[in-house]
Amino acid sequence: MIFEVLTIFPDMVESAFRTGVTGRASGEGIIELDTVNIREYSTNSYGSIDGYTYGGGAGMLMQCEPVFQAYEEAVKRLSARRPVSDKEDDEIKTRVIYMTPVGEVFTQDKAKELAGEDELIFLCGHYEGIDERVIDEIVTDRLSIGDYVLTGGELSALVVMDAVSRLIPGVLKNDESALTESFNTGGLLEYPQYTRPDEWHGKKVPEILLSGDHAKVDNYRMHEMRRVTKEIRPDLYTKYMEERGIF
Ligand code: ADE
Repeated sequence: MIFEVLTIFPDMVESAFRTGVTGRASGEGIIELDTVNIREYSTNSYGSIDGYTYGGGAGMLMQCEPVFQAYEEAVKRLSARRPVSDKEDDEIKTRVIYMTPVGEVFTQDKAKELAGEDELIFLCGHYEGIDERVIDEIVTDRLSIGDYVLTGGELSALVVMDAVSRLIPGVLKNDESALTESFNTGGLLEYPQYTRPDEWHGKKVPEILLSGDHAKVDNYRMHEMRRVTKEIRPDLYTKYMEERGIF
């Protein structure tokens, strides 16, 4: 998987991505990140890439041309990295994901879908957004990471890249991927977990987990998943029950 990120803060994206699990995996060449600095494609001598909004309104918008040229640079770089034997370049339509609160909400299912791609381009907006015409011309998907507004799309692109990366074979080591995690459990949240010591601040690890009886442990964990989900995310719990015809 190759991620191309169009941004005015390449250092922010690079430093977060090169840290931790994604950093290790990119060091091993399993996933790759490349950034294109939109600011380098300013069309004026001041180096600005934003302008006032037609029709009035607060704030500035990112202009079409710098965004478009950054996109073309990313497309060119992706094409240069592909093996010659691959399909003709013009047959390949790399998805371009615009990170915006005005987008489809990102979910684990979407992460699975995106993990099936070989390349992804992320467009990170700033100021009050981006001129609609360039979005219309290059963007294939608009994604939001939740119902709140960030100062820019970099953090949200990092969230999506992280969630997608960990689904790519080899990114997580065996012990990490073996975890039974939330949203990989038929829609229930993960059960609480414990490690040594078996008593801390007077709090004991549930007896059953020390019993060595695997069937009982599995049963207990399933019970805990349902309890936690019902309490913390009743919406997910209802969906889970409905999907199983329990209501
Ligand atoms: N940019 C600003 N806010 C955002 C959000 N909630 N999701 C994705 N990108 C954003």
